[in-house]
Amino acid sequence: MTLDTLLKQLSERTTQQLTQSVSTQDSIHAPLQEAMLYSLLNGGKRIRPILVYLANQFCGGEISQADAPAVAIEMLHSYSLVHDDLPAMDNDALRRGKATCHIAFDEATAILAGDALLTSAFEQLSQPLSGYTATQQLAMVHCLSRAAGERGMVLGQAFDLSHVGQPLSLEQLKQMHALKTGALITCALELGAISAGHLTSERREALKEFGHLVGLAFQVKDDLLDIESDTETLGKPSGSDLAKNKPTYPSLLGLEACRSLLERLLKQAHQTLKPYGDEAEDLLALAHYIIRRNH
Ligand code: IPE
Ligand code: IPE
Ligand code: MG
Ligand code: MG
Ligand code: MG
Repeated sequence: MTLDTLLKQLSERTTQQLTQSVSTQDSIHAPLQEAMLYSLLNGGKRIRPILVYLANQFCGGEISQADAPAVAIEMLHSYSLVHDDLPAMDNDALRRGKATCHIAFDEATAILAGDALLTSAFEQLSQPLSGYTATQQLAMVHCLSRAAGERGMVLGQAFDLSHVGQPLSLEQLKQMHALKTGALITCALELGAISAGHLTSERREALKEFGHLVGLAFQVKDDLLDIESDTETLGKPSGSDLAKNKPTYPSLLGLEACRSLLERLLKQAHQTLKPYGDEAEDLLALAHYIIRRNH
């Protein structure tokens, strides 16, 4: 199967699972669910759920075991985007080719839809489910909460916002990217491993290392695309980081150094999964896609 076909299949599976997971039943206030669905079902690349599925397969799991963590991590990611776009944060008006949630609805609804997506993510993982042990479910809840919160994505976002316009050292920038983006990417791979029953294993450790490399590469590429791509291709405003004087890799290192860094990270990612030969083929193809993508 080609990478394109695989991505399409797993992305459609994610969208289907997400659609089933948000209640559309009678509500005393429909706009909340409308804003959640607007932010979830709007054409994201679904990289994190795809990583969950691929890691589950790499660890010899049953694909249906990856559905709940795939849904949970995409809900959590979508919440992070809704809040990231708010006027108090990046103040962006376009996301995934459409008006951002606070523009399409209003600011209070966007904050609350984000809150609801965040809490629903944990509802997905903690509800009674067949196909997992209670220990597996608890391990998934722990993994996601650790990656998302005050020692993960939220900390990275806070650091990002408090350093607008300030020069950062390479080490600080690397830490910021590892937190705001890398933590959830690594978590996606770990969730896949846990869903397959690997609470501890050599494979899970290899996936973690691969996640650190690909997670950093993902955000370096995102920073590069802000400069190299256009708004229509990106589906979000290009030049947004530059206009806001955000701390980014290209602003510190320049474009060429960023491009070579990406190639280096890709090589290291290959090395990490080399012992697994063909079994790591899909994960490595996805790493290529992350680094070579145009949006
Ligand atoms: C954007 O993530 C935010 C970052 C962490 C850089 P994605 O590029 O995965 O966004 P979608 O989900 O495809 O819209
Ligand atoms: C955001 O990074 C990472 C998140 C945790 C949401 P960016 O602010 O660079 O993401 P985009 O470029 O708006 O998607
Ligand atoms: Mg941001
Ligand atoms: Mg942003
Ligand atoms: Mg960005």
